[in-house]
Order: sequence, then C-alpha cells, then structure tokens
Amino acid sequence: MLDCCSRRWTLLAGSLACLTLFGSLLIQWPSLLKMTPKSETEVMSINATNTTVLVWYWPFGHKFSMDGNVCWERFGIPNCKLVDDQSMFSQADFVVFHNRELMIGQQALPVHLTRPQTQKWVWFSLESPAHNGNVELFNGQFNCTMSYRRDADIYTPYGSLVPQDFGSGITVEDFIPKKKTSLACWVVSNFAAHHKRTAIYNQLKRIIPVTVYGGGVNKHLDRKALLPTISHCYFYLAFENSIFKDYITEKLWYNGLMGGAVPVVLGPPREQYELVAPKDSFIHVDDFPSLKELGKFLKKLAKDKERYASFFNWKLKYRSTANQYVDWRERFCKICPKASSLQKHKVYKDLYSWEYQ
Ligand SMILES: *[C@@H]1O[C@H](CO)[C@@H](O)[C@H](O)[C@H]1NC(C)=O
Ligand SMILES: *[C@@H]1O[C@H](CO)[C@@H](O)[C@H](O)[C@H]1NC(C)=O
Ligand SMILES: *[C@@H]1O[C@H](CO)[C@@H](O)[C@H](O)[C@H]1NC(C)=O
Repeated sequence: MLDCCSRRWTLLAGSLACLTLFGSLLIQWPSLLKMTPKSETEVMSINATNTTVLVWYWPFGHKFSMDGNVCWERFGIPNCKLVDDQSMFSQADFVVFHNRELMIGQQALPVHLTRPQTQKWVWFSLESPAHNGNVELFNGQFNCTMSYRRDADIYTPYGSLVPQDFGSGITVEDFIPKKKTSLACWVVSNFAAHHKRTAIYNQLKRIIPVTVYGGGVNKHLDRKALLPTISHCYFYLAFENSIFKDYITEKLWYNGLMGGAVPVVLGPPREQYELVAPKDSFIHVDDFPSLKELGKFLKKLAKDKERYASFFNWKLKYRSTANQYVDWRERFCKICPKASSLQKHKVYKDLYSWEYQ
C-alpha cells in the first residue's frame, strides 16, 4: 500500500513515519505495549489509517452506518478508513463501484474528476458474466477487480472451508442429520426455462424424486426454514444459474455444505470445485456419463450408510462459512490488508475479455 499512499505519506513523512513504525512494532510485539507507557499518540498510531476506501455508492442502495472507526471497531481490520462521502474522492486510495448500479444506469463513473495518480478504481461484482450487462463500456477505467473469481485482485468468494479442531470423541455420524425424508432437494429462487439447470432438473426428476422449493410455483422457504429443510434431504442440487469460471455460490457453501445434505453440483468443472473444497465433499453432475447414471448412483448411495457418511468426513476438519449475509462494509474493509500486495499500476483495458476468459 506504500505505493498508493506514497504521495500523501512523503508530505507527512518524518514524524508520522516514526509513529507508524512504532505502531507496527506494537502490533507485532504486543509485549512492548506493556513495557511502554501508553500515551494518546501511541494508541492513535496503532489505529492510524493509511488506506482510505471510498464506497462511491452502496450496492443495491443498502446503506450502512459509517460511525466510528468502522473497519477496526467492527472487524478488527487496522489501518483502514472506510468512507462513503463522495467529496473525499481526492483522498481515496480505492474507489469502489458496484457493477449492478452502473449496468442499469442508476450510477455513472465520475470520469469528469481528475484521479490522483495512485488511486485505484475497483470494479465490484458478485454476479456471473451472464448477469453483469455490457461491461465493455468500462474498458480502460478500472485498476482492480473484486469478485468471486480466484484471479480477481480482491478475491471475495461466496464461502470457504475454515480448518477447525473439534477435539477427540467426535465422529462423522455426529455431523449427519438423522432424519432424512427426501432423496434430492432443490431450492430455486430464479426459475428460468433457458437455464441449463432447468433442463437437467427436468430430466433428473424423471429418474429420481426431487423435492422443489421456491421458483414461484412451489412452497417458498424463508431464511429460517432453509437449512432445517435441506437437512432432511440426502442430496441437495447445488445448481448454479449459469456456468462460469469459479462461479460457485452459496448454493454449495450454505445450502449444501452447511445444510447437511451432500451437494450435487452443476457449475464449473470439478477441478475448480476441488480448488476450494475437498473432492469427496460433493458430487459433480459431470462425474457421470448420463443423468440416468447419476440418478442410479444417488439412489444406491442413500442406502449405503457407510459410503454416504464418507461425504461428511471433511466436517471432522473444517467448518463451512458462507458470506451471503456478510455486510458490505466488511468486504470493503478487507481491501485494505490486500492493498500492499496489489500491482502498483494496472488497467483493465478489456474487462469483457477478462470476464469471459
Ligand atoms: C502504512 O504506512 C506504513 C508506513 O509508511 C507502512 O509501513 C505500511 O505498510 C502501510 N500500511 C499499508 C496497509 O499500506
Ligand atoms: C485502537 O487500538 C486499540 C488496540 O490496539 C484499541 O484498544 C482501541 O480501542 C483502538 N481505538 C480506536 C479509536 O479504534
Ligand atoms: C488506473 O486506471 C486509470 C485509467 O486507465 C489510469 O490512468 C491510471 O494510471 C491507473 N492507476 C493505477 C494506480 O493503476
């Protein structure tokens, strides 16, 4: 991040640099904190904010409070100043633009403003390219991408597995919901005939029973009922709405892995799932030469207790986290710790090609 802030920091150099250095010493060796008499300035130096992230407008218009030192107080992220006041443009190291509002013309890029030389504009989207509109309009404008793509400058996945030590005495059986009443379940919010997943579902339901929730015609599940309902299913159809590189959403992380059903995934190739989740934690539609074979396998697996349980082995070592309810502020604060490792100068000349590569 030095690069981004160098101009500002050379101005303040001398004393501030010392203070900040002292501050980082305190962070690295907390014992020093105890040995050193605490003064107002020392405490300030720990929380010194040398990265400023400006949220140009709030995604979906959902505004959050910016009271206090948001990143530090709420998320324990130091040296990070999150603001949403557009008049702070000239002081911002990062300016974040959420794609949706740009796409629908509700917001526009402030191309009339002179950007500070080291300022980075961040293109932020959690949608797949199929739902991002024509990003060609933004070619040559952005310096960073922020998305679920692993190769984005700022990687913000829909979820992840976090190593966890559950101690001894726990067995895989403890993680498998006891009462299984449905073979396969599918929760669909956006039912569209042209989705590949709809075609797959239409074929699959002729081979095995599939219980469907949502999609307008079926029983709607609210947030509270979602996971308990899924826990009664042996398998959860974690079918993405479109198929793109790394596009693996809460359908895997939340509905499937947290819901206590084995996810049957439809999305990018298996190798991409295996980069983020153990290979025996899910079943991939492409693992089978036909849906008939898939159906046969699921029916057999539901009856084979031991083999079914093996799909839960990962639960002995990891905990699944899902981010769909994480507030935007946390995502934006997380830009700060990444700042120093980003390329100093970068321009997305062809955002469209980047999206589809
Ligand atoms: C903040 O500034 C200090 C001193 O200039 C530097 O060592 C540190 O890396 C900077 N932090 C970030 C996140 O850029
Ligand atoms: C500054 O950091 C210390 C911990 O190092 C914390 O106790 C204090 O509350 C922080 N102050 C502010 C204003 O964030
Ligand atoms: C950011 O992109 C703009 C527009 O292409 C460019 O002029 C500027 O040099 C880039 N800045 C950085 C820090 O990469």
